[in-house]
Amino acid sequence: MLRQLQDDVTIITGNHTLPKGTICLITPLITHRNPELYPNPKSFNPDNFNADNVASRHKYSFIAFSGGPRSCIGMKYSLVLMTLLISYVLRNFSVHTDMKLSDIKLKLETTMDYNLDSQADMGFKKSVAMVSDLIFNRATKVWLYPEIIYNLYIKLFDYEKYYTNVQNLPKHIIEKKKNEFAQKFKNKFNTDTDVKESEKKCFKGLVETLMDSNEAGLGLSDEDIKSHVITIVAGGFETTSLTVSYCLLLLAIYPDIQDRVYDEIYSILGDSDEPITIEQTTSLVYLKQVIHETLRLFPIAPVMLRQLQDDVTIITGNHTLPKGTICCITPLITHRNPELYPNPKSFNPDNFNADNVASRHKYSLIAFSGGPRSCIGMKFSLVFMTLLISDVLRNFSVHTDMKLSDIKLKIGMSLHNTVGFPITIQSRKQ
Ligand code: HEM
Repeated sequence: MLRQLQDDVTIITGNHTLPKGTICLITPLITHRNPELYPNPKSFNPDNFNADNVASRHKYSFIAFSGGPRSCIGMKYSLVLMTLLISYVLRNFSVHTDMKLSDIKLKLETTMDYNLDSQADMGFKKSVAMVSDLIFNRATKVWLYPEIIYNLYIKLFDYEKYYTNVQNLPKHIIEKKKNEFAQKFKNKFNTDTDVKESEKKCFKGLVETLMDSNEAGLGLSDEDIKSHVITIVAGGFETTSLTVSYCLLLLAIYPDIQDRVYDEIYSILGDSDEPITIEQTTSLVYLKQVIHETLRLFPIAPVMLRQLQDDVTIITGNHTLPKGTICCITPLITHRNPELYPNPKSFNPDNFNADNVASRHKYSLIAFSGGPRSCIGMKFSLVFMTLLISDVLRNFSVHTDMKLSDIKLKIGMSLHNTVGFPITIQSRKQ
C-alpha cells in the first residue's frame, strides 16, 4: 500500500524524520512475517489470532485490511461473507492441497446494483417502516408480549400484508438478477471476449456476488439470498438517507458551518466539474466532523438491545448484571451526556476534531453501535454520505427557516423527525 505523508513523521524506534510529502510503501507481507510479532512467521498457525495473542500485539501488527482512516471499508462485510462461505463449504466438503484461495476483490459501489428509485419500489419503503414499527411496539409495549394478543394485533391491523410486501422487492431483485446471470452464461458461450470486456465494467451487487458464491458451492437457497437482501436494504437504506437529511437540515440551520464546509470542498475541487473521487473525500476533514456531529445528535438507531452472555460488573459501581439480562443501550442518551460533550444539545462539529476525539472514550459515539455486532455498513455509509453531501453542497446552498429546537423527534426503530426536513436549495452557479 502507498501513503503520502501529510506532515513530517518521526520514527519512534530511531531518530529519523520522514519529511512531509514522502511516499511510504507499507508492506503487510513483510510486517506479517516479522518474527518479533509472529514466532515462526512462515508457518500457518491460527493460534496467532487467539484472544491472548491478539491482545499482546500492537493493533497494527495485522494490516491485511490496512488501518486508520483509509483502511478497508469492506472489512466487516467481507469477514462475515468469508465466514459464511467457508463454513458452508466445510460443512459439505473436505478440501485438499491442490485448491487455491481465490483473491478477494473489493469495490465500492451500491450494494445491490439495483436502483430503488428508478423502478416501482412495490411498497417496500412503507412496508419496512410498518414492520419496524411493529417490532419496536412489540419490544416496548408490555401488553403485546403474550403471543395470543400479538397474533390478534397483527391480524387486526393487517400487518401480514406488510410482511408480504417486504418479501416482494427482494424476490423481484433476485428474479431480475437470475435472468441477467442466465444471460451472462448464454453470452459466455457465444462471445467469450465480449463478456470479459463487459465483465470488467460490470459491478457485482450483493445478489450477484451471492449467486456467484453459490456457483462455487455456497449452497444458499433463494430464501437465504432473500434474507440477506432484506437485511442489507433494511439496514442500509433508511439509516443513510435519514442521516443525510438531518445533516443537510443542520447545515441549512447553521449557514456559517455550511460556508466552512463549502470552503473546504472548494479548496479541494475548485471550479472543476469532474466528479469527486474517493481520494479527495479523505481531505474533507471538516465535513466528516459535521457528519459525526449529526450522528451524535441524531443517531438513527436510537435504542439497541443486547442480551448478556455472562455476568457483567459495572465498573463505576458495585453492581453485577446477571447473565441473560436484556440491556437497553441508548446512543441518544450517551451522546447527550455533558461529561462527554460540553453543551450536548448544541450542534458543534468541533466535538469531532482530532484532539477531542482522542480525549474521549471510543464508545462515546455509538451511532453505529460498537464491538462485534456493530454496523457492517459503517465505513461504506460514511464514504457514501461524504460523497453525496459534498456533491450537493458544491452545486447548491441549502436554506431553512427552522431552528434546531424546532426538530421534534419520534423514537422508533429509527429516529424520525416529525416536522420533516423543510429545506430550500439554491444553485451556486447563479
Ligand atoms: C448512517 C448510516 C448507518 C447507521 C447510523 C447504522 C447504524 C447501525 C447500528 C446502530 C447497528 C446495530 C443495531 C443493533 O445491534 O441493534 C447496525 C447494524 C447493521 N447495519 Fe448499519 N447503519 C448504517 C448504515 C448501514 C449500511 C449502509 C448497511 C449496509 C450496506 C448497514 C448494514 C447493517 C447490518 C447488516 C447490521 C447488522 C450487523 C449485525 O447484527 O452483526 N448499515 N447499523
